[in-house]
Amino acid sequence: MYKTKFSSLVVAALFFITGCGGSDNKTEADNSEAPQSMIADEPVDDGQGIGKFKDVTLAAIDEKLAKEGQVVFDAKCSACHKTTAQKVVGPGLAGVTAKRKPAWILNMITNPVEMTQKDPAAKDLLAEHLTQMTFQDVSDEDAKKLLEYLRYNDQEGGEEKEEAKK
Ligand code: HEC
Repeated sequence: MYKTKFSSLVVAALFFITGCGGSDNKTEADNSEAPQSMIADEPVDDGQGIGKFKDVTLAAIDEKLAKEGQVVFDAKCSACHKTTAQKVVGPGLAGVTAKRKPAWILNMITNPVEMTQKDPAAKDLLAEHLTQMTFQDVSDEDAKKLLEYLRYNDQEGGEEKEEAKK
């Protein structure tokens, strides 16, 4: 009987410890920003954009993640973007995953203001659209879901185009 009580105490203590560890990590992650000193003096445009994402490699499209991305897109992006080629406030996003590197898209979603100030391609977009895309309070995880949705959309578009040719 004492044994049972003791082990449930241990379980409770473990919960407490892991709980604390988790939230500590989160605070650290939230505060982390790429220090200015890490940016090279002579900027070379490697097509990856400016921000925390670099050299992102992609696996096969994860449809579940893409569907979750669509929910975020509808809530936070659809006021300014369509997933067709049609411009609204911002550019139509069809074909964007063929045009841009994955890291560039993730940086544009999470760091749009700095991107439109410093990245050559994003600067051109601002000059063309004359509206500043603002950060939509998207977590890194949601940014990856959005990228997955855009990849899924481009794959679908690709299939439709194939159909149209027949
Ligand atoms: C207030 C309107 C607005 C919102 C909301 C918005 N964007 Fe944008 N977006 C723009 C504009 C305008 C541009 C062109 C760059 C500029 O002018 O800032 C752009 C550019 C982009 C680009 C680059 C497109 C290309 O052709 O390379 C991507 C990708 C993008 N936005 C994704 C998103 C995603 C994903 C969201 C939702 C989290 C979002 N945007 C929310 C207005 C918006």
